[in-house]
Amino acid sequence: MTREFVFTAAAALLCACAAPVPETFSVIPMPAEVELSEGVFCVKGAAVVQGEGIADVASAAINAFSDRLATVTGKAAGRGRGTILFSEDKALAPEAYTINLSKDSVLVGASSPNGFLYAIETLKQMLPPAVYGSQKAKADWVLPCGRITDAPRFAHRGLMIDSARHFWETDEMKRIIDVMAMYKLNILHWHLTDDQGWRVEIKKYPRLTEVGAWRNGTMVAKDWDSNDGIRYGGFYTQDELREIVAYAAAKGISVIPEIDLPGHMNAAMAAYPELGCSGGPYEVRTIWGISKDILCAGNDRIYTFIDDVMTELADIFPAEYIHIGGDECFGGRREVGKPVPWDSCPKCRARMRELHIKPGPDARHFLQNYVTARAQDILADKGRRIIGWGEILKGDLQEGATIMSWRGAAAGIEAASKGFDVIMSPNSNCYFDYYQSEEQDKEPLAIGNYLPVEKVYALEPTDGFEPGTESHILGVQANLWTEYIATPEHLEYMLLPRLCAVSEVQWCAPETKDYERFLLSLDHSFAVFDLTGYTYAKHVKGIIGLPGAEQPAEE
Ligand code: ACM
Ligand code: ZN
Repeated sequence: MTREFVFTAAAALLCACAAPVPETFSVIPMPAEVELSEGVFCVKGAAVVQGEGIADVASAAINAFSDRLATVTGKAAGRGRGTILFSEDKALAPEAYTINLSKDSVLVGASSPNGFLYAIETLKQMLPPAVYGSQKAKADWVLPCGRITDAPRFAHRGLMIDSARHFWETDEMKRIIDVMAMYKLNILHWHLTDDQGWRVEIKKYPRLTEVGAWRNGTMVAKDWDSNDGIRYGGFYTQDELREIVAYAAAKGISVIPEIDLPGHMNAAMAAYPELGCSGGPYEVRTIWGISKDILCAGNDRIYTFIDDVMTELADIFPAEYIHIGGDECFGGRREVGKPVPWDSCPKCRARMRELHIKPGPDARHFLQNYVTARAQDILADKGRRIIGWGEILKGDLQEGATIMSWRGAAAGIEAASKGFDVIMSPNSNCYFDYYQSEEQDKEPLAIGNYLPVEKVYALEPTDGFEPGTESHILGVQANLWTEYIATPEHLEYMLLPRLCAVSEVQWCAPETKDYERFLLSLDHSFAVFDLTGYTYAKHVKGIIGLPGAEQPAEE
């Protein structure tokens, strides 16, 4: 593999449009193989041509790329010298692509729409940041000659957005999808329900959004006894959900919805109290943390409810997987071993007897296994598979489930050793709601902990896995919980540039990763964020705090 990022002045040949070779190769995530040679290709006025058989999604993206080049360079496609040719190469793996650049042509090969989309993202990042703008710009509109061969390390390259604790308008969701596409992520895991709000329209259960989507105020900062007195809420109509699914699909991103159960269900139980063990009344939760009220595992109504909700959801979201949550069903770490409603509920106790679950501290886990298996079977009937948070592994998990490991890597390692597929999302490296500086008083309020860009970048997801079990790792995911994030600017600030760092964990082989090179490449991304109006964190430049409240880091 040859990688030559920095060109000497001697190597800088001039092309027909008299532009020098770009000085750095700053594509994130770094492609697997990059060989650059002398000379440049002028994109100004280049013809953009598509070969036979390119699918609609890719074809539309190629046309959009062509239009974009014409807009930013100010010269219509075909009015210049060279050609950018996109053609199918069936020999390539589904998400792989190749780009061969010479002075006369750019030849792009891929075997799937995503391969073409990723090639376009790479080409865009190889061009001046102004290519992301919406108007003609003066810039060196050239690409270096050479060859790029690229494919991702992991199939699941995810980001989770929590729309339950705070609600994100569809326009903001689209901005998140745009920036995911730029860094070749392919899964948006959408956390749509929680104790503090139900955000998805379910036609058969209108009270879920009439009641469950609204809370009577929100606690202020970290004062657990407070309430700001402002009614808060919102939800996505099914049309809006479909719009987001289509928008993401056009960018090669599949949306996996999460309905978190049987815990984190207070909002649904406020709307339909019969779903809980006591019958309520319940409230949409106004404070963060974890509610002790959970779905009644002994009541068959909850399985009808799950089936009905999943029927409507499966009709909206075509993804292979649906996430069924399963985390913190019995409270947080502090509540371990304390009673839960299932222990004293006659219906739940009867269900445990029926299932021959032995009384004892682990009984609750086996009853949760039963709920998980019922949800898994319901979804299997609809042709879908389940992902659940690490807690669903406790007890006796039915085969076929995929584990999302969040409390460190332990659940992932254990699950893989038992033959389950896993997605690694250890909070130590992947929780973007954590602080980005140790000087917390200079930062917007966050949930706690400390996760700088460098630590995100340092994650090696196979660490600790028994040899031979790493093949169960489907991929890596970053999670952005939003208890303490209430505005789009703050959301983007927590996301960027940590998203750039995780994209290299998801995409690059370990030998391709290089933190120093990555930091240099970030300058290009920052210029794009400036141009496109994204808010981003500048800690890697020694600047702390949300823009407007920045303070230079102390030496
Ligand atoms: C989680 O962070 N409760 C999955
Ligand atoms: Zn019960």
